[in-house]
This record gives sequence, structure tokens and C-alpha cells, in this order.
Amino acid sequence: MSVLQATNISKVYGSKRGIEHKAIDNISLSIEKGEFVGVMGASGSGKTTLLNILSTIDHLSAGTLTINDQEITRLSKGKLAKFRRQEMGFIFQDFNLLDTLTIAENIMLPLTLDGWKVKEMENKLANVANQLGIATILRNRSFEVSGGQMQRAAIARAIIHEPAIIFADEPTGNLDSKSSKQVMEALAHLNKKKKATTLMVSHDPFAASFCERILFIKDGKIFNQIYKGDNRQTFFQEILNVQSMLGGDTDDLQTVRV
Ligand SMILES: Nc1ncnc2c1ncn2[C@@H]1O[C@H](COP(=O)(O)OP(=O)(O)OP(=O)(O)O)[C@@H](O)[C@H]1O
Ligand SMILES: [Mg+2]
Repeated sequence: MSVLQATNISKVYGSKRGIEHKAIDNISLSIEKGEFVGVMGASGSGKTTLLNILSTIDHLSAGTLTINDQEITRLSKGKLAKFRRQEMGFIFQDFNLLDTLTIAENIMLPLTLDGWKVKEMENKLANVANQLGIATILRNRSFEVSGGQMQRAAIARAIIHEPAIIFADEPTGNLDSKSSKQVMEALAHLNKKKKATTLMVSHDPFAASFCERILFIKDGKIFNQIYKGDNRQTFFQEILNVQSMLGGDTDDLQTVRV
């Protein structure tokens, strides 16, 4: 079953000032239920733009997008906001936790917004906090915990309402290598155990090696895609190989962190 289907989507920036830039150029792709898909590509290749249009944060210039059998372009603004809140989970590079709330309150926020009962929220909270290994920091505020813990709290918030799909843009971008590993292990675990469908943008080959499939973007088009076999280290090496074929971004090449 496909959770997300994009057909011939494009995104053009700057048409108002007469200078057009096609950041996404006629991409079609489909994400099946339970997939863990990565998007890689050089800086400026269109990764964030692709994630933003697939996650409905930004508008398409052309094409159709269907998520959970709902054609997004047909939804009114209000319906889209509700759809996004209920069917999508978001994870950002800078965590986006509210520092006036406790970790627990941050995680429960999507449920609070949808008027859930306190008891039900607390059950769900305990559940996701255990899965992500953050049960002991729930009463802390975000500035009192580590970056890796903050990101795992953000992941808990992204999944607590059991969305159809999770979108993550550079989730390890602000983390040291130990925390990156913990966060990627947490995402991979949710994908395997809970069949959480995930789309993640990353320029980090180590983080991306936790995905099951990677799409490489070049100049707004899909350049290549590769699948992980049973070995993450081998996959990591393959990622590096495709990256060197792609050119650009060579400063980012990392060979040691397997
Ligand atoms: N709001 C915008 N207005 C105009 N052009 C934009 C806008 N956002 C992005 N672009 C351009 O679109 C292209 C793709 O940008 P995008 O941010 O998607 O790249 P990226 O692959 O995420 O890069 P990075 O790895 O640096 O985050 C770039 O050429 C960028 O300059
Ligand atoms: Mg980006």
C-alpha cells in the first residue's frame, strides 16, 4: 500500500521577479507503508524543497500529491491544517521544542491540540518515552537535557499521534556523532518495530545508512536510488560511491564513522 504518491511534481521559485528557478523538476515517487526513505544530494540540489512540498509545508507548482488516499491539492486550507496535524509527524534539525514547556508537555502537544483526555495522553506518553529511552527526563525542561535527548523528545512528539508518515529534515544536523547514532537507531527502531513510514533528508552518509532506501537528488531531479541489503556498513560505502559519482559536496564525504 502506498502512503505517499507524487506524480510529476515541480517547484519553481522566483517567477514573480521574472527569474525562474526550478528547484524540483518533474519528480515522481511513491513511498510504501513501513518504508524508511532517505533523500540525499549536494547542497542546493533541492532536498529541503522536496521535503517541504511532500509534507505540504510548501505549495507545488505542478503535479499531484496524494497522501493516505487523500489528494492534497484538493483540500481547503483548514482541512489541510487538520490533515497535517493528524496524519504527519515532523522532526527538524533544531528540534523545535518549546522551552517554556516540560519535555512531557512538548511530547503531548499534538494530542493536547486535538483535545485528547489526560489519562489517554499520559498512557501514550509513557509508551513513546519508553521506546525512545527518555522516560527519566519527562519532567525536565528542554534546556536541561542534551541535544540527543531533545531530538528523541522531538521524535516522540512526532510519533505520539501515530501519523501516517514522519518527515525529518537533517535530524542529526545539530548532534555530535554519539547522539546522531542514538537518534538514528531510535528512528530505525520505530520503523522496524512500529512500521513507522519515514522520509528523511540528510547530507550525512552515516545517518542515511540507517535508511532502507535512498533517493539521490541532483538539480531537482532524481539521479539514482539505492536499497540497503542486510548490511549497514556496506550500504554506507555504497552511499559514498554514489556521492562521489554525483560530484559536489566533497567536503562532506566522511569515511571513518562506520
Ligand atoms: N524560498 C526560496 N526562494 C527562491 N529560491 C529558493 C528558495 N528556497 C530554496 N531555493 C533555491 O532552490 C534550490 C534548492 O534549495 P534547497 O533548500 O531545497 O536545497 P537543499 O538540497 O536542501 O540544500 P542544503 O543541503 O544546503 O540544505 C537552491 O538553488 C536554492 O537556492
Ligand atoms: Mg536543505
